[in-house]
Amino acid sequence: MHILRCHEIIKTDFTRAENCYLYDSQGNRYMDFESGIWCTVLGHNHPRINRVIESQLGKVAHLGTRYLSRITEEAAVEVLNISGLEGGKCVFLSSGSEAVEFGVQVARRLSGKPLWLTFARSYLGAYGSAGRKNTSEAWLLDWEKSREQNSEAYLDQIPFEQIGAFVFEPGGSGSGFVKFPPRQIVKAIYDRIKRAGGLVVVNEVTTGIGRTGKWFGFQHYDLEPDIVAMGKGLGNGYPVSAVAMKKELAEELEAGGFYYAQSHQNDPLGAAVAREVIVTLREENWIEKGREKGEYFLAGLKQLEGECELAKEARGRGMLLGLELRPDEQRSVQNIYRRLLDRGFLVGYYSAGNMLRFDPALTIDHEDIARLLEVLHEILS
Ligand SMILES: Cc1ncc(COP(=O)(O)O)c(C=O)c1O
Repeated sequence: MHILRCHEIIKTDFTRAENCYLYDSQGNRYMDFESGIWCTVLGHNHPRINRVIESQLGKVAHLGTRYLSRITEEAAVEVLNISGLEGGKCVFLSSGSEAVEFGVQVARRLSGKPLWLTFARSYLGAYGSAGRKNTSEAWLLDWEKSREQNSEAYLDQIPFEQIGAFVFEPGGSGSGFVKFPPRQIVKAIYDRIKRAGGLVVVNEVTTGIGRTGKWFGFQHYDLEPDIVAMGKGLGNGYPVSAVAMKKELAEELEAGGFYYAQSHQNDPLGAAVAREVIVTLREENWIEKGREKGEYFLAGLKQLEGECELAKEARGRGMLLGLELRPDEQRSVQNIYRRLLDRGFLVGYYSAGNMLRFDPALTIDHEDIARLLEVLHEILS
């Protein structure tokens, strides 16, 4: 194999995909309960997205940083509209990591403060200062500890006056754990950050674009972000991400001669895909449908909690769900994952949290969720 192994590689012969199904070279069908890596919110091989890609490819896919196309502007308006940042500005980039890093850099530059704050265990990306979370500049707040202790006293230890940005991942201290930070702790941090003149960057790479039953995960909280970083679902599998920000921040950046050189920023092809994903989700009401199916899925997982000794706790918001298992040497999460794979189901798993994860496309059928729950019940029993 000539592909560098940066990850465990389990299967090498997938040949095609349709909505939530993947097919291998033998014609075997697998149900994708992970949306690739949480990307295909509208399912694989979506006809509307494919049509836009073909059409935009036939026009222009890429331009230099000095040039723009009308489709990029139209896509920006859509991104700002769903982010609640109408009148603000937006940039299209290539990956979620890049969008988060961009947002953190911008917030730190504008606030002029040395530190930024995020939740311990939150995943912010594969590279850059946000990815590294170097503790000399990043303050890592453990909200579970803060909840156990007196959260006011816990927050009092944090030097908010030195913190330029609160980088909030609403998927919950690392999407791997599927734990959602409580509203009152988030609100207390938000209020303190704002009082001290800091900015709020939300990392919506995993939780955005309908995954949690709303356009964005932050909409489950009582806060108004300054900067919204998004990726994954925005491209439905095509590598495009975006950073949206308030008008006044964008104006300050532009006035200060902000410079960012990356070859694929604001590519018309990526922007066209992002725009079509947003319009399709809205016109076909997939977020609401996804929210309802997520509730049904979570109720099914909760039932497993009661019926299978191995199932410890089901958690979820919209179509971002997880099942924590009790430790069991014979039946580790990896083992359960393998058994599901043998039965034709691709799910996520996270050994450190003893978690099985389910993040299917919002377009998945009820029957496929029911089938997975049935097989899972069988395996866990
Ligand atoms: C919460 C979160 N933020 C950021 C990223 C980085 O996105 P990408 O892998 O597209 O760079 C990920 C990726 O899994 C993520 O889960």
